[in-house]
Amino acid sequence: MPRIKLLPTVVINKIAAGEVIERPASVVKELVENSIDAEATEITIEIEEGGRKLIRVTDNGYGMDREDMELAFRSHSTSKLAQPEDLMHITTMGFRGEALPSIGAVSHASIVSRARGSDTGYEVEISGGGLDEVRRKGCAQGTCVTVRNLFFNTPVRLKFMRGESAEMSRVTDIVTRIALAHCHIRFELIHNRRRVFLLLDSEGLADRIRTFFGADVADALLPLESHTHKLNVSGYIAPPSLTRRDTRMQYIYLNSRPIRDRVVFGTLKSAYADYLMGGRSSVVFIFMDMDPREFDVNVHPAKAEVRFRDPSLIRNQLFASVRDVLASAGHAPLAGHAPAPAAPDGYRERVTQSVRDFFSRREGDDAQGPTLPGLTRGSGGPEGFPPPSTE
Ligand SMILES: Nc1ncnc2c1ncn2[C@@H]1O[C@H](COP(=O)(O)OP(=O)(O)OP(=O)(O)O)[C@@H](O)[C@H]1O
Ligand SMILES: [Mg+2]
Repeated sequence: MPRIKLLPTVVINKIAAGEVIERPASVVKELVENSIDAEATEITIEIEEGGRKLIRVTDNGYGMDREDMELAFRSHSTSKLAQPEDLMHITTMGFRGEALPSIGAVSHASIVSRARGSDTGYEVEISGGGLDEVRRKGCAQGTCVTVRNLFFNTPVRLKFMRGESAEMSRVTDIVTRIALAHCHIRFELIHNRRRVFLLLDSEGLADRIRTFFGADVADALLPLESHTHKLNVSGYIAPPSLTRRDTRMQYIYLNSRPIRDRVVFGTLKSAYADYLMGGRSSVVFIFMDMDPREFDVNVHPAKAEVRFRDPSLIRNQLFASVRDVLASAGHAPLAGHAPAPAAPDGYRERVTQSVRDFFSRREGDDAQGPTLPGLTRGSGGPEGFPPPSTE
């Protein structure tokens, strides 16, 4: 008798879910990314009880026909990779065919969809990995994915979910990050049947920044543009007078995908080094576009990290353009600037912990409703992004 056995699909998907689906915000991220890949121009995200009870994402994208619906919840089924080489130049947000089966393995979920140009809509349900037959169902063109009772069959994950407001602030944060890169899409976010925000598709990036972060941030920002044949960089950076104590307000995108990347963080740190007091971080909204063959996005379960083929390309061009913008706006390096002395051992951790304790004590108090990013409560960030700022 061999000791090694092939795992049943239900178990495989549950294991994958452990990596891909960490919390409600991860579900929201995956579903919204699917809607974007489906060329949606309107995306509505409805959340109940911080996502524990219900997450629903509805779009007006190209939808799915019957055959697609039969495969959508199955593992490693994707319309986004046709041949192995496609993995070397990914142009869509998704590519692994893992998100929907992972979600379906740890929730009660359904897809209702009608493909563009089709008269017939369909529905398929999945419960803890158990997949039902596809049925006909009248519906609008586009796709609606509903996820109920997330983690109902993974008690440990359920236990580690934070309070309603903390989970909702992560959801808000991830939708914000995505919405900043897709200004042509109308986004509506609803929590417990109350609208958190509505972003119109007529808005530009500057409008969305203003909506999310207020006039103080929006009015201070300096535009940044730098184009070479290998890399286009655009967006806004803040002057040295506007800083944060962490990198959470560094919104970095690569081909419209929010990323966190050491090379970029390091480059921003050195570009601002002579301008900022020690321990402060710059505020930036940076959009980089490059040939997808120049980087690998298949390195992190949440696709939040990338590996660049030539990191020096980013380092050199980003550094030069940030310095140029600051110098042209008349900002001079700090006179006699010296970095702040390093904090004693363990000091930073103790401060971080006490801030977290303070905020977790206030959890469960939802009287204020969900707050916008930059003003969020709760600790930890979604999908490998830095924890929400407590400033
Ligand atoms: N909102 C949607 N509209 C149209 N098709 C969709 C939608 N959501 C999912 N699909 C289809 O279902 C497939 C499976 O989705 P899933 O998110 O599991 O995988 P993926 O997006 O291909 O890759 P990844 O796991 O990296 O997200 C997609 O490839 C796509 O064809
Ligand atoms: Mg996907």
